[in-house]
Amino acid sequence: MKVDGKPFRSIWDKDGAVEIIDQRWLPHDFRIAGIDTLDEFAVAIRDMWVRGAPLIGATAAYGIARQMARDPSDAALSTAYDVLHDTRPTAINLKWALDRCRADLAVLAPEARAAAALDLARRVADEDVECNRMIGVHGLEIIREIAAKKPAGEPVRLLTHCNAGWLATVDWGTATSPMYHAANEGIPIHVWVDETRPRNQGALTAWELGAHGISHSYVVDNAGGHLMQKGLVDMVIVGTDRTTARGDVCNKIGTYLKALAAQDNGVPFYVGLPSSTIDWTVSDGLREIPIEDRDAREVTHVQGTLDDGTIGQVRVTPEGSDGANPAFDVTPARLVTGLITERGVCDASAEGLAGLFPERAA
Ligand code: MRU
Repeated sequence: MKVDGKPFRSIWDKDGAVEIIDQRWLPHDFRIAGIDTLDEFAVAIRDMWVRGAPLIGATAAYGIARQMARDPSDAALSTAYDVLHDTRPTAINLKWALDRCRADLAVLAPEARAAAALDLARRVADEDVECNRMIGVHGLEIIREIAAKKPAGEPVRLLTHCNAGWLATVDWGTATSPMYHAANEGIPIHVWVDETRPRNQGALTAWELGAHGISHSYVVDNAGGHLMQKGLVDMVIVGTDRTTARGDVCNKIGTYLKALAAQDNGVPFYVGLPSSTIDWTVSDGLREIPIEDRDAREVTHVQGTLDDGTIGQVRVTPEGSDGANPAFDVTPARLVTGLITERGVCDASAEGLAGLFPERAA
């Protein structure tokens, strides 16, 4: 997508180097960072310089590629896999990308690995872009149907949680791709953007939507239920970090509460996902998906632009109060209206997913 009129992806390689949009500073400052060593890739994922399940996967693939360029041995491949895998536990795209790298590279002679790993990282990135584009194409049909039932010119009002935008993927986003497609087609939309404490990923979503001229309002996390009760939300659409084979959805903390409110108010609740986010080995999301526990400082402090223009953090809690920071929650499949994938829309159920991905279903 474009930043100041110039097309960007969230990660790319140039002259043998890998560059990313450093998301620690957004929406306050747009900075590009180079990452090169294995340690830098691990820090970038763990400390959320890059974030969002699909982008984490692509970053890991590039991390393997840079490591293979330095040392293509079996031992280096194994270490790189472990170091990158241990950065964040919930988003399955990380393991998906690493497994793919290991399977493809382990069978090659070491001297062939560097070129193959770079080629694979580029493919992982390109495929993500195409999957997300197709999520937009399929999601657009749902938005079109809602728009058709409204008085002409009245916007379709969507609510989203966290940032499942192009910054969280390589491009387009998952939840946002249908929004961009709708806007490109001239369908009027308005997006309620959840703040998404503690890391305020909603500010990233607001930055993205604003850059594309999409009407939006930034709301506190607890506003969603009220907006739905008042009939001000036509559709909820979120992303996911891991979807089980029976359609449970694990996404940023607070997603579950939005799904409950949506069901209570008859608001359709959709999830956009590339199939790389489906973990076919698990079915019960609540019992089987590990929920990342992050540093409590992310809860006790918030970051923003200070009055003197610098970016800084302030503590919002009394000194001495502890925080707890579970980063994701699980929305059971029964609360999900539909899954929007690159192959189409299906029920959040084992049968629904098996219908779209028969080659993967057990
Ligand atoms: O902790 P984050 O910011 O990496 O969490 C991101 C999310 O929860 C997104 O909603 C999810 O990865 C879907 S991204 C297309």
